[in-house]
Amino acid sequence: MFTIMGATGNIGSKLADRLLTKEKPVRVIGRSTDRLQTFVDRGAVAAVGDAGNSDFLADAFTGSAVVFAMIPPDYAAPDFRKYQNDIGGGIAAAIEKSGVTHVVSLSSLGAHLPDKTGPIKGLYDQEQRLNQLDAVHILHLRPTFFMENTLMNIDMIKNMGINGGHIRGDVPFAMVATQDIAQVASERMLERDFSGKTVRELLGPRDISMDEVTRIIGAKIGKPDLSYVHFSREDYINGLSQAGLSEDMAHQLAELDAAINDRLLASVQPRTEDN
Ligand SMILES: NC(=O)c1ccc[n+]([C@@H]2O[C@H](COP(=O)([O-])OP(=O)(O)OC[C@H]3O[C@@H](n4cnc5c(N)ncnc54)[C@H](OP(=O)(O)O)[C@@H]3O)[C@@H](O)[C@H]2O)c1
Repeated sequence: MFTIMGATGNIGSKLADRLLTKEKPVRVIGRSTDRLQTFVDRGAVAAVGDAGNSDFLADAFTGSAVVFAMIPPDYAAPDFRKYQNDIGGGIAAAIEKSGVTHVVSLSSLGAHLPDKTGPIKGLYDQEQRLNQLDAVHILHLRPTFFMENTLMNIDMIKNMGINGGHIRGDVPFAMVATQDIAQVASERMLERDFSGKTVRELLGPRDISMDEVTRIIGAKIGKPDLSYVHFSREDYINGLSQAGLSEDMAHQLAELDAAINDRLLASVQPRTEDN
């Protein structure tokens, strides 16, 4: 059995699709029976519950050849690192209790750094925590910034006629599509060819700046003059708060963008065909 947390999300849905296409036994985890139904219709077993419930996760993990584990984001969490550590601790306990031996864990580029990386700090904590599980083989996948993050600006582009954020427009950095992350996760889950504790960065084909991203989007949607505006930290945080993110989450994302601007979020593995 291949068990997938976050099965309705960006990566989890593509991972479930790949494994079901290969007619593998799949258990999909999520909070809504309705949202998981599309996978159940294709033969998956649904485990419906909250990732904050470690006993629920232990039951869902039991009998799995491999688990795809992730800490689902909660953008409203008042203290995001604490939230990540609460969920992450429950995931670790569930892995131990279930006796599962192989875990592909979704981490992030920069998770080797304990500080100054915004929401990635909690993934640093999670890697350290999972590395304490002696009897379990763990592959920490460290993807860079998802290309799909750019979709969060659709309303801004529609309503304000600009693209923008706190990342500087002229700074090239690594971006990866979630379909490529799902491909690597599915291959590793099927092969189970990792042992001990290993790390794999996923960097996408090349570095790209937000100015270039904006030019590409503008050309595709018939707005060739679409421009990218670099928001100040204060304006960015205010905008995120107005959009419903917790104050802490807004600050964490601003810290992450500053880490990209300052090139702190650099890779530690060279870019190759494989990553
Ligand atoms: N965005 C980036 O650039 C980036 C880069 C590197 C790493 N990451 C990491 O990638 C992860 C996000 O991956 P993603 O974009 O694939 O996820 P996503 O699209 O945000 O999906 C999250 C999934 O988790 C489920 N979920 C949410 N809260 C839950 C809860 N309390 N209990 C159980 N299930 C819950 C949701 O399903 P239901 O709503 O149906 O329950 C959904 O399927 C995060 O850990 C993030 O730190 C992100």
